[in-house]
Amino acid sequence: MSDTSYLSLDKLTLSYGKTVAVRDLDLDIRKGELLALLGPSGCGKTTTMRSIAGLMMPTGGHIRLDGVDITRVAANRRAVGLVFQSYALFPHLSVFENVAFGLKLKGLRGAELDRKVDAGLKSVGLADFSARRTPELSGGQQQRVALARAMVMEPKVLLLDEPLSNLDARLRLEMRTELQRVQKESGVTMIFVTHDQIEALALADRIVVMKSGAIEQIGAPEEIYNHPASRFVADFVGFENIFEIRNGNLMTPKGEVVLPQAMPHAAGLAWRPRAVALGTGPWSAKVRGISFAGGTREYVLDTPLGVIKAEVDAALPAHAIDTDVVFDLPVENAAVLKRFG
Ligand SMILES: Nc1ncnc2c1ncn2[C@@H]1O[C@H](COP(=O)(O)OP(=O)(O)OP(=O)(O)O)[C@@H](O)[C@H]1O
Ligand SMILES: [Mg+2]
Repeated sequence: MSDTSYLSLDKLTLSYGKTVAVRDLDLDIRKGELLALLGPSGCGKTTTMRSIAGLMMPTGGHIRLDGVDITRVAANRRAVGLVFQSYALFPHLSVFENVAFGLKLKGLRGAELDRKVDAGLKSVGLADFSARRTPELSGGQQQRVALARAMVMEPKVLLLDEPLSNLDARLRLEMRTELQRVQKESGVTMIFVTHDQIEALALADRIVVMKSGAIEQIGAPEEIYNHPASRFVADFVGFENIFEIRNGNLMTPKGEVVLPQAMPHAAGLAWRPRAVALGTGPWSAKVRGISFAGGTREYVLDTPLGVIKAEVDAALPAHAIDTDVVFDLPVENAAVLKRFG
Protein backbone atom coordinates (compact mmCIF):
# COMPACT_ATOMS: atom_id res chain seq x y z
CA MET A 1 0.00 0.00 0.00
CA SER A 2 1.44 3.39 -0.95
CA ASP A 3 1.29 6.43 1.38
CA THR A 4 -1.04 8.38 -0.89
CA SER A 5 -3.50 5.52 -1.18
CA TYR A 6 -7.04 6.16 0.09
CA LEU A 7 -8.59 2.89 -1.02
CA SER A 8 -6.31 -0.12 -1.42
CA LEU A 9 -7.02 -3.56 -2.68
CA ASP A 10 -4.28 -5.86 -1.56
CA LYS A 11 -3.91 -9.31 -3.16
CA LEU A 12 -7.68 -9.44 -3.46
CA THR A 13 -9.08 -12.79 -4.58
CA LEU A 14 -12.79 -13.23 -5.25
CA SER A 15 -14.49 -16.51 -6.00
CA TYR A 16 -17.92 -17.88 -6.78
CA GLY A 17 -17.70 -21.39 -5.36
CA LYS A 18 -14.78 -22.99 -7.17
CA THR A 19 -14.69 -20.33 -9.90
CA VAL A 20 -12.06 -17.69 -9.22
CA ALA A 21 -13.37 -14.46 -10.78
CA VAL A 22 -10.60 -12.12 -9.58
CA ARG A 23 -7.13 -13.24 -8.57
CA ASP A 24 -4.47 -11.43 -6.47
CA LEU A 25 -5.61 -7.97 -7.47
CA ASP A 26 -3.49 -5.06 -6.17
CA LEU A 27 -4.84 -1.56 -6.66
CA ASP A 28 -4.22 1.78 -4.93
CA ILE A 29 -6.66 4.64 -5.42
CA ARG A 30 -5.98 8.22 -4.36
CA LYS A 31 -8.47 10.39 -2.53
CA GLY A 32 -10.62 12.33 -4.99
CA GLU A 33 -9.56 10.21 -7.93
CA LEU A 34 -11.93 9.15 -10.69
CA LEU A 35 -10.83 5.70 -11.70
CA ALA A 36 -12.33 3.74 -14.59
CA LEU A 37 -12.38 -0.05 -14.62
CA LEU A 38 -12.34 -1.05 -18.26
CA GLY A 39 -12.52 -4.54 -19.68
CA PRO A 40 -14.56 -7.03 -21.67
CA SER A 41 -17.61 -8.85 -20.34
CA GLY A 42 -16.77 -11.34 -17.62
CA CYS A 43 -13.34 -9.91 -16.71
CA GLY A 44 -14.38 -9.28 -13.10
CA LYS A 45 -15.38 -5.61 -12.98
CA THR A 46 -18.71 -6.03 -11.16
CA THR A 47 -17.23 -8.67 -8.87
CA THR A 48 -14.48 -6.25 -7.81
CA MET A 49 -17.06 -3.52 -7.14
CA ARG A 50 -19.26 -5.87 -5.14
CA SER A 51 -16.37 -6.72 -2.87
CA ILE A 52 -15.52 -3.04 -2.27
CA ALA A 53 -19.18 -2.41 -1.43
CA GLY A 54 -19.17 -5.32 1.00
CA LEU A 55 -21.69 -7.39 -0.95
CA MET A 56 -19.20 -10.21 -1.39
CA MET A 57 -16.53 -11.49 0.99
CA PRO A 58 -13.07 -12.01 -0.53
CA THR A 59 -11.54 -15.49 -0.40
CA GLY A 60 -8.15 -13.83 -0.04
CA GLY A 61 -6.54 -10.45 0.50
CA HIS A 62 -7.56 -7.17 2.09
CA ILE A 63 -9.46 -3.97 1.41
CA ARG A 64 -8.44 -0.78 3.21
CA LEU A 65 -10.33 2.50 3.10
CA ASP A 66 -9.13 5.72 4.72
CA GLY A 67 -6.67 3.89 6.94
CA VAL A 68 -9.10 1.18 8.11
CA ASP A 69 -9.18 -2.47 7.13
CA ILE A 70 -12.78 -2.93 5.95
CA THR A 71 -12.38 -6.43 4.53
CA ARG A 72 -14.83 -7.87 7.08
CA VAL A 73 -16.87 -4.74 7.76
CA ALA A 74 -20.61 -5.01 6.92
CA ALA A 75 -21.79 -3.25 3.75
CA ASN A 76 -23.90 -0.67 5.60
CA ARG A 77 -20.96 0.42 7.74
CA ARG A 78 -18.46 1.04 4.97
CA ALA A 79 -19.43 4.51 3.70
CA VAL A 80 -19.31 3.13 0.17
CA GLY A 81 -22.04 4.23 -2.25
CA LEU A 82 -23.25 2.25 -5.23
CA VAL A 83 -25.00 3.23 -8.43
CA PHE A 84 -25.91 0.45 -10.80
CA GLN A 85 -26.95 0.27 -14.42
CA SER A 86 -30.52 -0.37 -13.35
CA TYR A 87 -31.03 2.49 -10.94
CA ALA A 88 -33.51 0.60 -8.77
CA LEU A 89 -35.49 3.68 -7.78
CA PHE A 90 -38.71 3.27 -5.82
CA PRO A 91 -41.45 3.91 -8.41
CA HIS A 92 -44.16 4.71 -5.84
CA LEU A 93 -42.08 7.41 -4.15
CA SER A 94 -41.36 10.94 -5.27
CA VAL A 95 -37.94 12.08 -6.39
CA PHE A 96 -37.52 13.76 -3.00
CA GLU A 97 -38.48 10.61 -1.10
CA ASN A 98 -36.14 8.47 -3.19
CA VAL A 99 -33.19 10.71 -2.40
CA ALA A 100 -34.25 11.03 1.26
CA PHE A 101 -34.56 7.27 1.76
CA GLY A 102 -31.07 6.44 3.02
CA LEU A 103 -30.82 9.63 5.07
CA LYS A 104 -34.07 8.76 6.86
CA LEU A 105 -32.71 5.31 7.66
CA LYS A 106 -29.80 7.12 9.30
CA GLY A 107 -32.31 9.02 11.46
CA LEU A 108 -32.29 12.37 9.66
CA ARG A 109 -35.54 14.36 9.86
CA GLY A 110 -36.96 17.84 9.42
CA ALA A 111 -35.00 20.83 8.17
CA GLU A 112 -31.66 19.01 7.99
CA LEU A 113 -33.16 16.26 5.85
CA ASP A 114 -34.79 18.84 3.55
CA ARG A 115 -31.55 20.76 3.25
CA LYS A 116 -29.48 17.70 2.31
CA VAL A 117 -31.99 16.36 -0.19
CA ASP A 118 -32.46 19.77 -1.80
CA ALA A 119 -28.70 20.23 -2.10
CA GLY A 120 -28.38 16.74 -3.62
CA LEU A 121 -31.11 17.41 -6.17
CA LYS A 122 -29.64 20.79 -7.01
CA SER A 123 -26.21 19.29 -7.60
CA VAL A 124 -27.64 17.02 -10.33
CA GLY A 125 -29.89 19.70 -11.82
CA LEU A 126 -33.20 18.29 -10.54
CA ALA A 127 -34.20 20.95 -8.02
CA ASP A 128 -37.54 21.48 -9.81
CA PHE A 129 -38.45 17.80 -9.93
CA SER A 130 -38.63 16.85 -6.27
CA ALA A 131 -42.40 16.17 -6.26
CA ARG A 132 -42.41 13.98 -9.40
CA ARG A 133 -42.70 10.23 -9.17
CA THR A 134 -39.69 8.53 -10.74
CA PRO A 135 -41.54 6.69 -13.55
CA GLU A 136 -42.45 10.16 -14.86
CA LEU A 137 -38.79 10.98 -15.51
CA SER A 138 -36.57 10.35 -18.54
CA GLY A 139 -33.79 7.75 -18.33
CA GLY A 140 -31.17 10.44 -17.81
CA GLN A 141 -33.21 12.11 -15.08
CA GLN A 142 -33.71 8.77 -13.33
CA GLN A 143 -29.97 8.22 -13.46
CA ARG A 144 -29.48 11.66 -11.88
CA VAL A 145 -31.84 10.70 -9.04
CA ALA A 146 -29.80 7.54 -8.46
CA LEU A 147 -26.64 9.63 -8.42
CA ALA A 148 -28.12 12.19 -5.98
CA ARG A 149 -29.40 9.38 -3.75
CA ALA A 150 -25.90 7.94 -3.48
CA MET A 151 -24.18 11.33 -3.12
CA VAL A 152 -26.33 12.64 -0.23
CA MET A 153 -25.03 9.79 1.90
CA GLU A 154 -21.60 11.43 1.60
CA PRO A 155 -19.80 8.19 0.79
CA LYS A 156 -16.03 7.95 1.06
CA VAL A 157 -16.07 6.08 -2.22
CA LEU A 158 -18.77 6.07 -4.86
CA LEU A 159 -18.95 3.02 -7.12
CA LEU A 160 -20.75 3.29 -10.43
CA ASP A 161 -21.29 0.07 -12.37
CA GLU A 162 -22.06 0.87 -16.02
CA PRO A 163 -24.33 3.72 -14.93
CA LEU A 164 -24.78 5.07 -18.44
CA SER A 165 -25.33 1.90 -20.42
CA ASN A 166 -29.15 2.18 -20.36
CA LEU A 167 -29.09 5.64 -21.90
CA ASP A 168 -29.18 6.60 -25.57
CA ALA A 169 -26.07 8.10 -27.17
CA ARG A 170 -26.97 11.75 -26.62
CA LEU A 171 -28.03 11.32 -23.00
CA ARG A 172 -24.96 9.25 -22.33
CA LEU A 173 -22.75 12.11 -23.42
CA GLU A 174 -24.72 14.57 -21.34
CA MET A 175 -24.61 12.36 -18.22
CA ARG A 176 -20.91 11.73 -18.74
CA THR A 177 -20.22 15.46 -18.46
CA GLU A 178 -22.61 15.69 -15.52
CA LEU A 179 -20.86 12.89 -13.67
CA GLN A 180 -17.50 14.48 -14.21
CA ARG A 181 -18.81 17.82 -12.90
CA VAL A 182 -20.43 16.29 -9.80
CA GLN A 183 -17.25 14.37 -9.07
CA LYS A 184 -14.97 17.41 -9.41
CA GLU A 185 -17.29 19.64 -7.37
CA SER A 186 -17.78 17.15 -4.55
CA GLY A 187 -14.25 15.72 -4.62
CA VAL A 188 -15.68 12.23 -3.97
CA THR A 189 -13.45 9.29 -4.85
CA MET A 190 -15.15 7.42 -7.66
CA ILE A 191 -14.73 4.10 -9.40
CA PHE A 192 -16.56 3.87 -12.65
CA VAL A 193 -17.07 0.58 -14.48
CA THR A 194 -17.47 0.52 -18.21
CA HIS A 195 -16.66 -1.64 -21.18
CA ASP A 196 -16.71 1.42 -23.41
CA GLN A 197 -13.16 2.66 -23.98
CA ILE A 198 -14.34 6.08 -25.21
CA GLU A 199 -16.23 6.63 -21.96
CA ALA A 200 -13.24 5.56 -19.86
CA LEU A 201 -10.84 7.77 -21.83
CA ALA A 202 -13.16 10.79 -21.59
CA LEU A 203 -13.92 10.52 -17.88
CA ALA A 204 -11.15 9.00 -15.89
CA ASP A 205 -8.07 10.32 -14.14
CA ARG A 206 -6.65 6.81 -14.49
CA ILE A 207 -7.83 3.72 -16.28
CA VAL A 208 -7.46 0.16 -15.05
CA VAL A 209 -7.71 -2.32 -17.90
CA MET A 210 -8.79 -5.74 -16.66
CA LYS A 211 -8.52 -9.09 -18.38
CA SER A 212 -9.69 -12.43 -16.98
CA GLY A 213 -9.81 -11.31 -13.34
CA ALA A 214 -6.44 -9.54 -13.32
CA ILE A 215 -5.08 -6.09 -14.11
CA GLU A 216 -3.53 -5.85 -17.55
CA GLN A 217 -2.45 -2.20 -17.40
CA ILE A 218 -3.00 0.92 -15.25
CA GLY A 219 -2.38 4.39 -16.58
CA ALA A 220 -3.64 7.85 -17.43
CA PRO A 221 -6.00 7.94 -20.43
CA GLU A 222 -3.26 9.29 -22.75
CA GLU A 223 -0.92 6.55 -21.66
CA ILE A 224 -3.42 3.76 -22.25
CA TYR A 225 -4.47 5.31 -25.57
CA ASN A 226 -0.98 5.94 -26.92
CA HIS A 227 1.13 3.34 -25.15
CA PRO A 228 -0.81 0.12 -24.65
CA ALA A 229 1.45 -2.39 -22.93
CA SER A 230 0.08 -5.51 -24.57
CA ARG A 231 -1.78 -6.79 -27.58
CA PHE A 232 -4.91 -7.13 -25.48
CA VAL A 233 -4.91 -3.47 -24.46
CA ALA A 234 -3.95 -2.28 -27.95
CA ASP A 235 -6.81 -4.24 -29.42
CA PHE A 236 -9.19 -2.92 -26.78
CA VAL A 237 -8.36 0.73 -27.44
CA GLY A 238 -8.68 0.58 -31.21
CA PHE A 239 -5.33 -0.39 -32.72
CA GLU A 240 -6.42 -2.42 -35.73
CA ASN A 241 -3.03 -3.37 -37.15
CA ILE A 242 -1.17 -5.42 -34.55
CA PHE A 243 1.89 -7.60 -35.16
CA GLU A 244 4.12 -9.73 -33.00
CA ILE A 245 7.88 -9.28 -33.15
CA ARG A 246 10.04 -12.38 -32.99
CA ASN A 247 13.81 -12.39 -33.41
CA GLY A 248 13.66 -8.82 -34.62
CA ASN A 249 11.16 -9.67 -37.34
CA LEU A 250 7.56 -8.57 -37.75
CA MET A 251 5.38 -11.69 -37.82
CA THR A 252 2.66 -11.25 -40.42
CA PRO A 253 0.02 -13.74 -41.61
CA LYS A 254 1.96 -13.89 -44.88
CA GLY A 255 5.43 -14.39 -43.47
CA GLU A 256 8.17 -12.60 -41.56
CA VAL A 257 9.27 -9.09 -42.40
CA VAL A 258 12.65 -7.71 -41.39
CA LEU A 259 12.19 -4.45 -39.49
CA PRO A 260 14.10 -1.39 -40.71
CA GLN A 261 15.49 -0.96 -37.21
CA ALA A 262 16.26 -3.22 -34.26
CA MET A 263 13.61 -3.22 -31.51
CA PRO A 264 15.20 -5.31 -28.76
CA HIS A 265 12.54 -4.58 -26.10
CA ALA A 266 9.45 -4.86 -28.24
CA ALA A 267 7.19 -7.90 -28.20
CA GLY A 268 4.99 -6.34 -30.84
CA LEU A 269 4.13 -3.24 -32.84
CA ALA A 270 0.68 -1.77 -33.35
CA TRP A 271 -0.61 0.91 -35.68
CA ARG A 272 -3.91 2.72 -35.49
CA PRO A 273 -5.55 2.99 -38.93
CA ARG A 274 -4.64 6.66 -39.06
CA ALA A 275 -0.96 5.85 -38.33
CA VAL A 276 -0.76 4.00 -41.66
CA ALA A 277 0.83 6.15 -44.39
CA LEU A 278 -1.22 5.78 -47.57
CA GLY A 279 0.07 6.87 -50.99
CA THR A 280 3.72 6.54 -50.05
CA GLY A 281 5.99 3.71 -48.93
CA PRO A 282 7.53 0.40 -49.91
CA TRP A 283 4.40 -1.79 -49.82
CA SER A 284 1.75 -2.23 -52.45
CA ALA A 285 -1.85 -3.12 -51.70
CA LYS A 286 -5.25 -3.52 -53.27
CA VAL A 287 -8.20 -1.52 -51.96
CA ARG A 288 -10.83 -4.04 -50.82
CA GLY A 289 -13.11 -1.79 -48.85
CA ILE A 290 -13.74 1.88 -48.44
CA SER A 291 -16.05 3.72 -46.08
CA PHE A 292 -16.68 7.39 -45.58
CA ALA A 293 -16.55 8.37 -41.92
CA GLY A 294 -17.20 12.10 -42.00
CA GLY A 295 -13.83 13.76 -41.56
CA THR A 296 -11.94 10.70 -42.69
CA ARG A 297 -12.12 7.80 -45.11
CA GLU A 298 -11.40 4.26 -43.96
CA TYR A 299 -9.77 1.71 -46.22
CA VAL A 300 -9.46 -2.04 -45.94
CA LEU A 301 -6.33 -3.07 -47.81
CA ASP A 302 -5.22 -6.46 -49.06
CA THR A 303 -1.46 -6.39 -48.58
CA PRO A 304 1.66 -8.62 -48.47
CA LEU A 305 1.40 -8.18 -44.67
CA GLY A 306 -2.20 -9.39 -44.51
CA VAL A 307 -5.25 -7.17 -44.16
CA ILE A 308 -4.37 -3.60 -43.15
CA LYS A 309 -6.83 -0.92 -42.08
CA ALA A 310 -5.94 2.65 -42.97
CA GLU A 311 -7.71 5.93 -42.26
CA VAL A 312 -6.96 9.17 -44.05
CA ASP A 313 -8.33 12.68 -44.29
CA ALA A 314 -11.54 12.67 -46.35
CA ALA A 315 -10.40 15.86 -48.10
CA LEU A 316 -7.73 13.81 -49.91
CA PRO A 317 -8.71 12.26 -53.27
CA ALA A 318 -10.37 8.88 -52.73
CA HIS A 319 -8.83 5.60 -53.90
CA ALA A 320 -11.37 3.50 -55.77
CA ILE A 321 -12.17 -0.07 -54.85
CA ASP A 322 -9.93 -2.72 -56.49
CA THR A 323 -7.25 -0.17 -57.40
CA ASP A 324 -3.61 -0.49 -56.33
CA VAL A 325 -2.10 1.81 -53.71
CA VAL A 326 1.23 1.99 -51.95
CA PHE A 327 1.58 2.39 -48.20
CA ASP A 328 3.97 2.31 -45.29
CA LEU A 329 3.78 1.28 -41.64
CA PRO A 330 6.20 3.85 -40.21
CA VAL A 331 7.85 2.37 -37.13
CA GLU A 332 7.96 5.82 -35.52
CA ASN A 333 4.13 5.91 -35.69
CA ALA A 334 3.74 2.53 -33.98
CA ALA A 335 2.90 1.74 -30.39
CA VAL A 336 5.58 -0.56 -28.98
CA LEU A 337 4.02 -3.48 -27.10
CA LYS A 338 6.01 -4.86 -24.17
CA ARG A 339 3.96 -8.06 -24.05
CA PHE A 340 2.17 -9.91 -26.77
CA GLY A 341 -0.52 -11.45 -24.56
N1 LIG B 1 -23.19 -15.22 -9.20
C1 LIG B 1 -22.19 -15.79 -9.89
N2 LIG B 1 -21.94 -17.11 -9.81
C2 LIG B 1 -20.93 -17.69 -10.48
N3 LIG B 1 -20.10 -17.03 -11.30
C3 LIG B 1 -20.29 -15.71 -11.44
C4 LIG B 1 -21.35 -15.02 -10.74
N4 LIG B 1 -21.30 -13.71 -11.09
C5 LIG B 1 -20.26 -13.60 -11.95
N5 LIG B 1 -19.65 -14.79 -12.16
C6 LIG B 1 -18.49 -15.05 -13.02
O1 LIG B 1 -17.40 -14.26 -12.57
C7 LIG B 1 -16.70 -13.69 -13.66
C8 LIG B 1 -16.66 -12.17 -13.52
O2 LIG B 1 -17.99 -11.67 -13.62
P1 LIG B 1 -18.33 -10.12 -13.48
O3 LIG B 1 -19.79 -9.99 -13.32
O4 LIG B 1 -17.47 -9.54 -12.41
O5 LIG B 1 -17.86 -9.59 -14.90
P2 LIG B 1 -17.93 -8.12 -15.51
O6 LIG B 1 -16.52 -7.72 -15.84
O7 LIG B 1 -18.70 -7.23 -14.62
O8 LIG B 1 -18.70 -8.37 -16.89
P3 LIG B 1 -19.85 -7.49 -17.63
O9 LIG B 1 -19.10 -6.45 -18.43
O10 LIG B 1 -20.53 -8.48 -18.50
O11 LIG B 1 -20.75 -6.89 -16.60
C9 LIG B 1 -17.40 -14.18 -14.91
O12 LIG B 1 -16.67 -15.26 -15.42
C10 LIG B 1 -18.75 -14.58 -14.43
O13 LIG B 1 -19.26 -15.64 -15.21
MG1 LIG C 1 -20.54 -6.23 -14.79
